[in-house]
Amino acid sequence: MGASSVFRPGLFNHKVAIVTGGGTGIGKAISAELLELGCSVVISSRKADRLEAAAREMRQKIPPSSPASVTAVPCNIRSEEEVKALVSSVLKRYDRIDFLVNNGGGQFRSPAEDMSSKGWKAVVDTNLTGTFHCCKEVYTAWMKEHGGAIVSIIANMWNGFPDAAHTGAARAAVDNLTKSLAIEWAASGVRINAVAPVRTAQHIISFVSVFQDVHDFHLSVWLQGKIFSKTAMENYKGNRPDLFKMSVPFTPSKRLGVPEEVSSAVCFLLSSAASYISGATLKVDAGQSLYTSMWEIPNHSAWPEAPEGENLDALNELVDPKRKL
Ligand code: ADE
Repeated sequence: MGASSVFRPGLFNHKVAIVTGGGTGIGKAISAELLELGCSVVISSRKADRLEAAAREMRQKIPPSSPASVTAVPCNIRSEEEVKALVSSVLKRYDRIDFLVNNGGGQFRSPAEDMSSKGWKAVVDTNLTGTFHCCKEVYTAWMKEHGGAIVSIIANMWNGFPDAAHTGAARAAVDNLTKSLAIEWAASGVRINAVAPVRTAQHIISFVSVFQDVHDFHLSVWLQGKIFSKTAMENYKGNRPDLFKMSVPFTPSKRLGVPEEVSSAVCFLLSSAASYISGATLKVDAGQSLYTSMWEIPNHSAWPEAPEGENLDALNELVDPKRKL
């Protein structure tokens, strides 16, 4: 008989996870899948009401035979004090922390030239410093002594993140932080990895509301593949219900992704199936990041001239044969 698979019901029975941003979108899918596998989940975000409602909804789906439970603990991850309070409340309640999922984050769309220092700092504080606070606190308070697994959700920022440079920079930094901590914390038996999904439908919504007049073709190129969720669709109050569909031809997969396709990757990385994986970033993008660039550059003649010589002459003639050399 061959070795048995780790993938089975009850895989995470009696484990405890913190999922920041765990009440909505991808974070909610991650929390739901962890619960399904028997893990107790503490969901955390700033908005207490929405968080509690999400916890209630998820609680109803836990079968009576499961040891899992879900708890909502509000926390602003930008604040080190609030993160300390979150971690100590989890330890008080459950007496262990096996997993941390850094999914909480946020950004607004803006050309870099229009970003205020305050706006830049807010995004870097949430996406980078918030993630650092959570990693550091679960490590010092629990994982340093007991080991554990951490997964941070980043983004498809491999070719830059035009119109959201702050979050691109912060997510790239989390990719690097993941590598540093994988080495620093290896001796504690802590594995830390990242997951990089294509951008969420939420990004489409904010983009489209700013640029309603963008030509359909360019818009659909820009949209590309996305993680699609019903909530994001319902949140979209615009007059373009076709937007999600428009991006499909520009994806290698010819369909959008769903949050459950991100959560399965996260659960894999948290599980012992990934026991030899640390410091890695797993792209969950159906190859999108290898496929096209999303940013339209308008025609311009602002680029510095190439050096003079026969190659430039030949190039100019190729572009405009009528041009007098
Ligand atoms: N999600 C977005 N921003 C957040 C923050 N500051 N704290 C926790 N979760 C968040």
